[in-house]
Amino acid sequence: MARTAAIIAAAGSGERLGSKIPKALVQLAGRTLIEHAFSSISPLVDEVVIAAPADYEESFRNLFGESAKVVTGGATRSTSIAHALEVVSPNIDFIVVHDAARALASTSLAARVIEALNDGEVAVIPALPVVDTIKSINSDGYVTLTPDRTNLRAVQTPQGFTRQILNRAHQGLDRNPDATDDAALVESLGEKVKVIEGESRALKITTSDDLERAMVILGLSQSDEVRSGVGVDAHAFSSDPHRKLHLACLEWAGEVGVDGHSDGDVAAHAICDALFSAAALGDLGSNFGVDDPRYAGASGATLLREASNRVKASGFEILNVSVQIVGNRPKLSPRRREAISALSIALGGVEVSVSATTTDGLGLTGEGRGIGATATALLIKRAVRSVNVGSNT
Ligand code: CTP
Ligand code: MG
Repeated sequence: MARTAAIIAAAGSGERLGSKIPKALVQLAGRTLIEHAFSSISPLVDEVVIAAPADYEESFRNLFGESAKVVTGGATRSTSIAHALEVVSPNIDFIVVHDAARALASTSLAARVIEALNDGEVAVIPALPVVDTIKSINSDGYVTLTPDRTNLRAVQTPQGFTRQILNRAHQGLDRNPDATDDAALVESLGEKVKVIEGESRALKITTSDDLERAMVILGLSQSDEVRSGVGVDAHAFSSDPHRKLHLACLEWAGEVGVDGHSDGDVAAHAICDALFSAAALGDLGSNFGVDDPRYAGASGATLLREASNRVKASGFEILNVSVQIVGNRPKLSPRRREAISALSIALGGVEVSVSATTTDGLGLTGEGRGIGATATALLIKRAVRSVNVGSNT
């Protein structure tokens, strides 16, 4: 089985994007471009080497820890790749070179590149037919040539090479210092470069328009409304030792319950409040008033289901919910997974995180007289629903 490494060129400054930070660290849908690029390629390879901009190496190391080697890039893309090549492990046979700027290139594209190497190609590049007519011009702005479009291809990454070819290609770098892809260096060696079909989602993010196109591919848009909300709840433990404790949609045997309208599930109540707050739909009281008999004794799960329905009815999708339980007991960690799953089911499959803390002996929760919870919710109202991302052949 051939061993494969990925090199990700991420050392550019992103001048044309105009961001204050290097382009690879710019966020797209909650993740940096380099994280997108890394996550699509890393499942297929034995090691990943990233060329980072000088002074940003630590930020990259913090993102990937042990799962990638980080080197300092050079002044051009080719020198960045050459720096990365120096640290590729000796036992690697194939190298896939990718641009962080092509953050949305799919894992299946990288898989097809690697498959062609396994089939015996020495250099493999994905490309799409050119849809515009291309002109070559002179420095005065006059057309000198109109090449036949049918033979033109717009080239993408990831590009795959045998290690030996890529090393030889980069030894010729001095003769071709401005090469914008590695295949150009291989071509100068007179070696065959195989073109396979690319994909439109592997577009290069160069300008802010490209970033917007990438968001559309992900089904997002800058006109999406993202809203965060916060909710808090607390209840005192009941004087009735037989009252059952309901917390995070679970029943806690052996623990004394809390007083309150409904089942007193502070985690569920805090999440409901966070959801209503994010959607600007009021709060728990105004939605499930204490006087409303339908909710007297209602379970946390019932309230969560109803809150999530109301939030969805007002056009929002729930991106995630996070709740922190505050109290000396019950001990949450043994049942954290169960709590996450119960809350998530009540919300219709939303991503939920559950944490817990104590308050150093202070206040209602610290003195052991009750339990509290704080929650946040993130909602999105999408301007674009979904987009077909087939290749544009
Ligand atoms: N790149 C690199 N080292 C350089 C220049 C570019 O590793 N010295 C990488 C970029 O990080 C990017 C890829 O090569 O992932 C393609 O380059 P490009 O899209 O031009 O990115 P930037 O050079 O960052 O953008 P700009 O040219 O607008 O400054
Ligand atoms: Mg550049």
